[in-house]
Amino acid sequence: MKEKFLIIIGYLFLVAVVVILTFRMAFLQRLIVDNSEKLSDRMSAFESSVISADGQISSLKDQVPGLGEYMTGLQLHMAKMWFAAEASNWQLAEYELHELSETADAVAALKVSRDKIDISDEIKKALGPRITALRQSIDGHGTAGFADSYSAALNSCNGCHDSAGYPFIHITIPSAPPVTNQLWEEFSPGK
Ligand code: HEC
Repeated sequence: MKEKFLIIIGYLFLVAVVVILTFRMAFLQRLIVDNSEKLSDRMSAFESSVISADGQISSLKDQVPGLGEYMTGLQLHMAKMWFAAEASNWQLAEYELHELSETADAVAALKVSRDKIDISDEIKKALGPRITALRQSIDGHGTAGFADSYSAALNSCNGCHDSAGYPFIHITIPSAPPVTNQLWEEFSPGK
């Protein structure tokens, strides 16, 4: 009698354990489904923010000036520097050289290649020593041969154009000022 009673108790206990485990499993399954839904929501939100950032980056890239625009800047600074030096306006010549150097830095940051030549890598190599020589002659107010260092710089400009497949872009000493609305001589206020 006592044995039978124990067997029934044991049986009921097992049934209770099975019921509890079944509920627990169902609960855990629900938890997994809920969390994976949340995760996939987050994933798709993340995905769409990546897509929108990608779009913004390519729109910004389109707004950044390209190599051609920077080159036009180099050309203008070279031309202005020439007329500043001719008028012995060394402060303006120095300023134009500084702008030229900054434009070369921008080309270096652009990470562009043409005809298998890494222009961004080559620009500072080509112009760095020329900029130093120009600075020396500007600092010496032309006595260290401004015209010679200017011609040497032009050779570097055109040397790269030749090897990068643009030999038809040939920069020369300017024969007329690039703009007519700027004073080349030093401006003395009050005069
Ligand atoms: C390391 C190579 C390199 C050097 C150095 C270089 N250039 Fe260029 N330049 C190029 C390339 C490449 C192009 C063609 C750009 C393009 O694909 O739009 C170019 C184009 C130009 C253009 C044509 C721009 C236009 O849209 O009309 C001018 C002007 C120019 N360069 C001026 C200069 C001047 C001035 C210097 C020197 C102070 C110089 N470049 C130095 C590589 C160089």
